Amino acid sequence: MNPFREDLATRTAPDPCTIVIFGATGDLTHRKLIPGLYNLLHDGELPPTTRIVAFARREKTDEGFRQELEESNKKYSRQSHNDRLWQTFSQQIEYHQSTFEDKEGFSRLADRLKAYREKDGTVGNVLFYLSTAPDYFDDILIALKESGLAKAPKNAWARVIVEKPFGTDLPTAQHLNQVVNDTFEEADTYRIDHYLGKETAQNIMVLRFANAIFEPLWNNQHIDHIQITCAENMGMTGGRGAYYDTAGALRDMVQNHLLQLVSLIAMEPPADLSADGVRDAKVNVFKSLRHWVGAEEVGKNVVRAQYTAGSVDGIDAVGYRQEDRVPEDSKTEAYVALRCFVDSWRWDGVPFYIRVGKQLPKKATEISIHFNEAPSVLFHKSANQQVRKNVLVIRIQPDEGVSLRMLSKVPGPAVRMEPVKMDFRYKTSFGKASPEAYERLILDAMAGDATLFARRDEVEHAWRFIDEIEKAWHQSDSPPPVAEYPAGSWGPKEADTLLEQDGRVWRRL
Ligand code: BG6
Repeated sequence: MNPFREDLATRTAPDPCTIVIFGATGDLTHRKLIPGLYNLLHDGELPPTTRIVAFARREKTDEGFRQELEESNKKYSRQSHNDRLWQTFSQQIEYHQSTFEDKEGFSRLADRLKAYREKDGTVGNVLFYLSTAPDYFDDILIALKESGLAKAPKNAWARVIVEKPFGTDLPTAQHLNQVVNDTFEEADTYRIDHYLGKETAQNIMVLRFANAIFEPLWNNQHIDHIQITCAENMGMTGGRGAYYDTAGALRDMVQNHLLQLVSLIAMEPPADLSADGVRDAKVNVFKSLRHWVGAEEVGKNVVRAQYTAGSVDGIDAVGYRQEDRVPEDSKTEAYVALRCFVDSWRWDGVPFYIRVGKQLPKKATEISIHFNEAPSVLFHKSANQQVRKNVLVIRIQPDEGVSLRMLSKVPGPAVRMEPVKMDFRYKTSFGKASPEAYERLILDAMAGDATLFARRDEVEHAWRFIDEIEKAWHQSDSPPPVAEYPAGSWGPKEADTLLEQDGRVWRRL
């Protein structure tokens, strides 16, 4: 399947398969995977013979587990919950109780898959989905290899989807990649980054390469700088603090989602639209990312911060260190703002500013391209500098769309200018909500299209950039400080200073 082909009728259909979800009792299965699969069936995208095996450690019956899933589906499904459709769908889900090291559990799984093949008369395609805590990835992969399950029966395929985090630094990512590639071919490995499955992220390539007007301006001759903001108005709900405090915003969001967005914005036109064509072009961006090395460089270019008590959407919020399962003396950042450069011919000297944080005033992800000012000889003598720039905004979520800010004459006898917006909204133009990222990605994995999944080298290059910053924060004698911002504000003043030093300001969302 090729996501950028104009003629969508030529999309490769997903192959019927069995999806084995490891760690199926977890949050992701309830909130995203099962509702996603249900929606695909609802929309007629899922082959009806698709079966789902929920592999997990706790004791549960098929019926009991299906009931739990039904409750979640009612809550999280994009399409409204239909009892009859759910009945059909849920009969395809079976619970498989086993630990992840238990050889006998994997041999029972092999028997189960064989029985499906015989009963359904299918070839036996299997998609393994690693949705456990990463500590179990090794055990599962080794067990899949040793049990022979990673090797597909004749004429069939066996693929693996790996959830993030892909390691916690370069060595652990390399280790994980090694174990994955000892078990599955790279071509059968699908490292999920759900930001790539978002409709708006996919549209970046279409916007750039299917239109003639943007690409000629897409370089340091015409672009002043780029901002990427990923704001969340949530703290550490549902015990998430335990995981989050070991990761922090840099590893949780920047290493994957945000750098992926940078790569889509900064990449050269790919040689072709194959998975490797696109990923080769993205890897070149990762290779060109300038690394900040040592406490001084990191201190100058990267701001880390934690929220203190405040109020978000009118509701009182505790500070990061008072969150459930977060140590009182934690130094983990819940916010990062950074300046980075893609040292390539196209982007020489153009800063990319990234900011991401929890407990900000609203949930919104957007990319803004700030163009150079027009020559000031005629109209611009007195206009405010920031307003003079044309800004192209790609709203990743919510209110998905693209807008262009430009100056217009205010009607009337005097020549007075004001910024106005040309706006494209997905909902208005296409009249329907975009599918969830997970729906798209699962379908792509079933169709064997890895374009929207991270390749091994992308992940490792991203870690090289991140590791230097982490090293300066945690291993240097004079680490840059952890700044603070009240929950419900737009981040620490240090993040504003980062841009002010360059004569710029963050866009108001
Ligand atoms: C996840 C992070 O990958 O992405 C979370 O682990 C974050 O911390 C989430 O909340 C954000 O995803 P989205 O799609 O809601 O922007």
